Amino acid sequence: MTLSIHDSIKKIPHYPMAAMYGLEEGWIRLASNENPFPPSPDVFSRILDVLHHMNRYPGGEQELKNAVANHYGVKADQVLFGDGSDELIELVLKAMKHDSRKDVIVSDPSFPFYTIAAAIYGYAVRKVPLIDMKVDLNTIKAAIDEETRVIFLNNPLNPTGTIFEENEFSLFLKDLPPDILIVVDEAYAEFAENKAFPDTFKYVNDHPVLVLRTFSKAYSLAGLRIGYGVGEASLISFLERTKQPFSVNICALTGAEAALADRTYLAKVLNNNRKGKEFYYGALKELSLGFVPTEANFIMMEIGEQAEAIVKRLFDEKILVRWMGAYKLPDYIRVSVGRPEENVQCMDALKRILKSRS
Ligand SMILES: Cc1ncc(COP(=O)(O)O)c(C=O)c1O
Repeated sequence: MTLSIHDSIKKIPHYPMAAMYGLEEGWIRLASNENPFPPSPDVFSRILDVLHHMNRYPGGEQELKNAVANHYGVKADQVLFGDGSDELIELVLKAMKHDSRKDVIVSDPSFPFYTIAAAIYGYAVRKVPLIDMKVDLNTIKAAIDEETRVIFLNNPLNPTGTIFEENEFSLFLKDLPPDILIVVDEAYAEFAENKAFPDTFKYVNDHPVLVLRTFSKAYSLAGLRIGYGVGEASLISFLERTKQPFSVNICALTGAEAALADRTYLAKVLNNNRKGKEFYYGALKELSLGFVPTEANFIMMEIGEQAEAIVKRLFDEKILVRWMGAYKLPDYIRVSVGRPEENVQCMDALKRILKSRS
C-alpha cells in the first residue's frame, strides 16, 4: 500500500478480541470478563421508551452525571462519560500529550488497550513487571522519571484479579511529582470483596488522580458502551474538551441510569460471582491445579505447558476461555465467572480434557 500511514501506527497490534463468534447460540463465553446475565429489566424498558427519540442527538448526560455523583458522593462536574471506559483512556492521552515529556507507565501484564492507545497517540510505554502476580506500587514509583506523563494502574488487575490495597495506594501518592496523572482503572471494582480495596474517590480532589469505572461488567452493558471517569472538576473539564460531542449514545445513557438505580440486580450479580469463585476454587483444588485468588469476575488458572492446547480443545467444545500467552503468562488461562451451569460445564470439560492427555 502506498498511503503514508504513520510508522508508529503500523506497529500497533490489533486488540485481542474474543467476540468473533458474535451472538451465535451454543457458545459458553468465558474469555472477555463479561457479565453472563442480561442487564436489569429496567434497562430494557427505559431503552424501549427512549428509542422513540433516536431522531435527536443524545440528551440526558446531565441526569446521569447527577446520578453517578450522588452515588459516590462527588459533584456532578467531577464526572465524565465515554463510549466505554476505553474512550476515556484515549481522552487522557489526547489531553496530556502536548509537551516534550511523553512516557506512559503500565504494569506488565495489564489491560492491553493502555499500550495500544499510548502507541496511537505517540507515547513510549514503560512496562513494570508484577511481583507475585500483583502490581507493586513501589516498583511503579521507582520507574518514574522526567519523561513520565501518565501512569495507568488497574485495580483489580486484568488479567490476574489481584489488588493493591488502600494503605499501599495512599503511600504511593505521597511525594509523587505533581504533574503526573495517575489513572486508576477500576473496571472490576464492584466485584472486589477485600475490605482493603482502596476508596480512590476520596483522593481525586487533592491528587492528580482520575478514577475510571465502567457499566460494561457488573452492570452488564458491555454492548451498549459506556464508562465514566471521576476526577477533580478542572481535569474533567479539560478531558471533556477533547471528547467527540455525543460519543455516548442515547441507549447507553438511559440504560446506564436505569442500571445504576437497580441495586437488587447488582446484588444478584455479585452473589453469583461470589458463588462462582467458590465453585472454581473448589474444583481447581480437586484437580490440584494452581490459581490466583481473585477480586474480580475472572480467575487465572495455572494449567502448565499444555495451556494453549487445552484452550483449543475447549474451543472445539464451544467453550471460550483466554490463553494468557499474549500476557506473557503462557502456563495460564483466564476464565470468566459465568452462570453456575456454565462454570460446571467449563470445569467438567477441563477435567475430561486434562485426563485424556495425562
Ligand atoms: C481493565 C479494563 N479496563 C477497561 C476495559 C474496557 O471497558 P469498557 O467496556 O468500559 O470500554 C476493560 C475491558 O475488558 C478492562 O478489562
